[in-house]
Order: sequence, then C-alpha cells, then structure tokens
Amino acid sequence: VLCDIGFIGLGVMGKNLVLNLADNGYNIAAFDLNHEKVTDTIEQDRLENKTDSPRVYGCFSYTELLSQLKAPHLIVLSVPAGEPVDQVCESLIGAGIQPDDIIIDTGNSLWVDTVEREKRYKSQFLLFSSAVSGGEVGARFGPALMPSGTPYAWTRIKPIWEAISAKVDPATGKPIERTEPGEVIEYGDPCAAYIGPAGAGHYVKMVHNGIEYADMQIICEAYQVLREGLGMSCDEIADTFEKWNQGPLDSYLMEISVEVLRHKLDDETPLVDVILDKAGQKGTGLWTAVSSLEVGCPAPTISQAVYARSISSFKSARVTASELLEGPDSKEYTEEEKQTFITRLHDAIYCAKICAYAQGFQLMKLAAKEHNWELDFSSIAKIWRAGCIIRAVFLQSITEAFNRDENLENLLLDEFFAKQLNLHQSNWRQAIADITLMGIPAGALTSALSYYDSMRSGVLPANLLQGQRDFFGAHTFERTDKATGKKYHVEWSSKGRPMVSM
Ligand code: 6PG
Repeated sequence: VLCDIGFIGLGVMGKNLVLNLADNGYNIAAFDLNHEKVTDTIEQDRLENKTDSPRVYGCFSYTELLSQLKAPHLIVLSVPAGEPVDQVCESLIGAGIQPDDIIIDTGNSLWVDTVEREKRYKSQFLLFSSAVSGGEVGARFGPALMPSGTPYAWTRIKPIWEAISAKVDPATGKPIERTEPGEVIEYGDPCAAYIGPAGAGHYVKMVHNGIEYADMQIICEAYQVLREGLGMSCDEIADTFEKWNQGPLDSYLMEISVEVLRHKLDDETPLVDVILDKAGQKGTGLWTAVSSLEVGCPAPTISQAVYARSISSFKSARVTASELLEGPDSKEYTEEEKQTFITRLHDAIYCAKICAYAQGFQLMKLAAKEHNWELDFSSIAKIWRAGCIIRAVFLQSITEAFNRDENLENLLLDEFFAKQLNLHQSNWRQAIADITLMGIPAGALTSALSYYDSMRSGVLPANLLQGQRDFFGAHTFERTDKATGKKYHVEWSSKGRPMVSM
C-alpha cells in the first residue's frame, strides 16, 4: 500500500504525532536518521494499534520514504528548528521531491526563517508550516495546531489537521478529553485553524510561547512567595493551587504545577526541593521579547519571564550575593494574615495573567499590521482553548472579547477584562506591596502592575523625557496646547531665548 503521509523526525513529538495520525485512519511512512527511532515507533504502533492492518511503515532513506507515498506527497517534519529543517529539505530535493509536494514544518522555527524558506524552495516543493503545541500528550491525543502557508496547501492538510487536533465542546468552551490509544473524537471545535501566509503561524506560536513563559513565571513567583514568605509546605501550596484551579485561574499550567509540587522522593522530600533552580530555554520566549522591542509593543511581563530564566542561570553569583546583600527581616504571619495574603495573591496572579495575554495579543496585532497578515484573534484564542500548553478557561473570555470587537486594540480595553481588573487591582497592589516588603522577587507580577498603571495613565512622564531629548540633541517636541504634528525646539542653555517651531 502507498501511505497517505510521510513523517520525518521520530523524537518524542514526532512519534506521538505519528500515532495520533494513525489513530485517525492515516497510513504513515515514517523516517528518522536514527533508525532505532523508526523501529521504536513501529513497535509502539504495534502495541497501540487496535486495527487489523499495520498503520506505520518504517523507511530507512529519504528515497524510500518518497517511494512509499501517494502522490502528490504530503510530508510532515518534526525536527529541531534551524539547520535540521534545511538539511531535511535539501535531502528531500536530492531524493526527488516534486513542486506540488507539500512539506509541513511542525517545529518551533523562527518565523522569519519560515518566510525565507518558503521563498527559497518555492520551485521545488510547497513549504507549509504548522507549529504544534501541547507537548508529548498533546501530540498523542490532540494538540493545538497553528497552520500557515499557501491556502492551496491548507485545503489538502485541513481534514487531517482537524482530525488530529484537540477538540473543544462548543457548549461549554472546555476541552473534550481524549486519553486512550485508538480513541477518536469526531465532534467539537477543532483546535486547528488557518492562521495566514508563511511565517504567520510560527509568529503566533512564538507569541503563544512568550505567553507560556509569562504564565509559568507568574505561577513560580506565587510558589516562591508562599514557600518563603508564608513558610508553606509544597503540599499546602499544591492544595492552594488546586483550589485556585477551580476558578478563573483554571489552567493546564496550574494543574501540572500541583502535580510537580506533590511529587515526592522515597524519603518524602518533595522532588521540587532537589530540582536545581536553573531554568532552561530554547529561544521562543526570547524571540517574543525581541520582537516586542522591534515592533514597539510593550510586553514587559513576557520579557520579565525571559529575564527570570536568565537570572536563574547565575546560580553561583546568586549564592555569593545571598551572603553579601541584605534584605528585609523575616516576619511571622498570623493565620488570618496568611489567608488575607493568599486571597490577594490569587487576584494578583489573575490580573498579571490578563496583562500578559493583553501584551501577547497586542504584539500579534501590531506584527500583523506590519506584515500584512489578517489574523483572526478570536479564532487564535479559540484554538488555544484546548491541546496547547497555555490552555485555560480564561481563553474563552478572550475569544468572547474579540467576538465583541474584532478590532480590539488591547484586552485591557475590553469591558469584561476592564471589570475584572477594576475589581481586583486593589488586592493586586496590596499583594505586590507585601511581596516587596518580604524581599521576594516577583518580576512578572510586579511588571504587570506597572504595565497596568502605565496603560491607565492618561499622562506619562514622557513630556519630561521629550524635554531631555530636545535639551541634549535638539530632537524637538510637540505641544499639547498647539496643533498636533507641529514640532518645537528650545535653546535650553540660554534662558529666555524664544522657542523655535520647526
Ligand atoms: C508547546 C511548548 C513547546 C516547548 C517549548 C519549551 O507549546 O508545546 O511551548 O513548544 O515545550 O518550546 O520551550 P522552552 O524550552 O524554551 O521552555
């Protein structure tokens, strides 16, 4: 038999996507440079296959892979971003890939690389991209997919992508669970929607990851405050997070944090206590922060989350400084004070989370404008409701905000989110004040509050800043009491000299 789909790269994500595709009735020709991974995937499929016929066929060269596929060929790549993508593309050209064949890059490629690749390979094959979110389990039982590239390629990919993606119950906005091999969900809203032309999908996934960094950091800051500030045990913190997970903070990241905190070693030591506090990163959060600076979109909470990972990597300097630099004296809290603080912290997390998403969505909006992408933000929020790492109840509210106003400039201006922030900002402020007095770092929670206060300031000190710029560099300024667009300059050094309009 000729297979429906070729699959290259059988790492954790690749193998699970192959099994997911197979569950949904597709035959796969699978290849990896590491032949053991090919045999391992076939073996896994043999164990999980509930049908009578094989679903995954192992290939041991690119030529063999192409020869096993129905034409025009559809090939999915799950290889690390960067060089490996080009190596596979070149190898497939060498093996005889055709101009109407499609290669789908599912990795976390840098979006500009995708734009460049699409152009470079245009005459040899169609490069389509579709970032995948959801980790190992998502890949196996339903990820969120962010496809982008030529609409023609999407018409061929769409039924497959909608089949394998996570699904949301349209009535509740909640994910439909799929956890068993062989199980197929044929109803619900698929978490796979066409994003736009080449690069748009990878950009959106990049911002998803930036938000993911912020979401994770916010939870981690809450953990540190509860642990060090209130002296709570990991189990007590897990109990608190579990409670929070019943309300507006309900999210996958909160859920897995509970599990991480509850995990114990044989001697009952919480595992988290022995995990080295140096965070890794593969680049997508950093790219989001860089892009926010380039686009001119404030995303301080996302950037802070990247900085928090960087500062964590300076372990030895931090240990030295911890002996050298002073903080506040520690304080004992009464049970009542603790409960009040926990309530305020909950609200701080909720508000900071709203700000992080506001930053991410505004960044996508500004980038879309710059690159002429017509992004549908309601649809993006919708496909993030299930399958992906940032899936959360909260995304239903974002979907609704963009349904109310598809041109919404910033989530903070939406009536629902404005109401939430107005209700909780006082507790948020109090929590930040308390955390600051405890001497515990909380860059994400704090930067979000500063973002919120900047956004709600009709007047910022940029007036003085413009004066400074004009002073040393004659950079000119506009005046609020004169016509817009008219520029003024002052000869600052000689008081009383007339103002020059330029
Ligand atoms: C996802 C994740 C996934 C990956 C991150 C990890 O959406 O499924 O974002 O893409 O786990 O890239 O990123 P860091 O290693 O940078 O934390």
